[in-house]
Amino acid sequence: MKLEFPEDFLWGSATASYQVEGATDEGGRKPSIWDVFCSEENRVANGDTGEIAADQYHRYAEDIVIMRELGLQAYRFSIAWPRIIPEGVGEVNEEGVTYYRNLMLALRKAGIKVVATLYHWDLPYSLELRGGWRSRDTVEAFRTYARVCVERFNDLVDQWITINEPWCISYLSHLIGEHAPGHQSLEETVKVIHHINLAHGMALAECRTQEIRKPVGISWNLFVPRNATRRSEDMEAARKSLIRESRVFTDPVLHGTYPSELGWQFPIEPGDMDIISQPMDFIGVNYYQETVLAADMQQESGYRVVPTWQPTTSQNWAINQYGLYRVLEWIAKEAPGIPLYITENGCASDDVIDPDGRVHDRDRIEYLIKHLEVVKQAIEDGIPLKGYYQWSFIDNFEWAWGYEKRFGIVYCDYKSLQRIIKDSGYFMRDIISGFCEY
Ligand code: FCB
Repeated sequence: MKLEFPEDFLWGSATASYQVEGATDEGGRKPSIWDVFCSEENRVANGDTGEIAADQYHRYAEDIVIMRELGLQAYRFSIAWPRIIPEGVGEVNEEGVTYYRNLMLALRKAGIKVVATLYHWDLPYSLELRGGWRSRDTVEAFRTYARVCVERFNDLVDQWITINEPWCISYLSHLIGEHAPGHQSLEETVKVIHHINLAHGMALAECRTQEIRKPVGISWNLFVPRNATRRSEDMEAARKSLIRESRVFTDPVLHGTYPSELGWQFPIEPGDMDIISQPMDFIGVNYYQETVLAADMQQESGYRVVPTWQPTTSQNWAINQYGLYRVLEWIAKEAPGIPLYITENGCASDDVIDPDGRVHDRDRIEYLIKHLEVVKQAIEDGIPLKGYYQWSFIDNFEWAWGYEKRFGIVYCDYKSLQRIIKDSGYFMRDIISGFCEY
């Protein structure tokens, strides 16, 4: 088999600030909600923290050499708000600005496109103390932070991504409680959903103020679930989940309204929906696994996730590439004509350094092949997919799983911080160069 893609298809790899940078106490950075969350008991596996992570703050030059070796065309990373405006509001930290400018300059010099996410979950802790994303003040603070980033970095950025995965910021962090700040309240979640949607719109408006406009989008982790059986209640469960977990983000941004079926009172103020629904240049889709649902009236949501038969990754995430196809098909219909990018896709596996000094991560390659076959199919079927970012460039701090889960195509030895390109890294190189035969 040979996997071929259009010449102009963009190939990249992705990371996020708190997951790779380390140096949490350096360069004028102040704590984020994740520093504090990690210090609390039983929040993160093994009490791991992002204090050192992959140390990219000090080693980005080395990492860019590897990116070049693998032929990566774009690097998607996130800017840490607590490095730019350490207290969330107030003074700009010039050292933080310099750090990201240097990173961007080095990427450009290496011929690698700069794709910057404004928010990938590291909210300055001082803002959390004032209500975090539950408070509208945080949205205003985000607008100012976005303005600073756009003013300081727009000349070096190729694509902006406003927010990474609104679902995780709302549901996972404020209802399920697995991510910082670890709350469990539906009332809060409803507020956070609206505030995050609004924050996206405000950041987008800031990007539009520049004379030279760089493309702007958002990264959504969308759920287009399957119903477990053909029973009408299970079909209804899947429909409900689509509304509650996907359309609650996509409807306001793409159509300017919230799905009415939810019956939730979002804290909408006059003008909000216009800000939220300004046209975007592209949509980012993050995809890892799919969920199968059955009706369950014991749950507040009215449904629950049920087991599947598919093989799973080392994280127990079911591998089903056709779920990715369903997501792409659905969003392409919801947003006709808007270019799509897969801004994250990849898997955790229990990688080890073999006696030959290399990491033979065959299972990751198989995961990638399956998903890239679907990507190819989607392009052939006319879905306007323009690029693919593999998650992740390097092993890193996997949130509540700590360092237990490795997602990189580059291995990071957390003791020596040495980097080793895994077999999957060479696989990506071959995909990008157009010689992927398997
Ligand atoms: C996504 C996150 C990313 C990473 C992957 C595995 O939900 O955006 O930071 O943790 O999952």
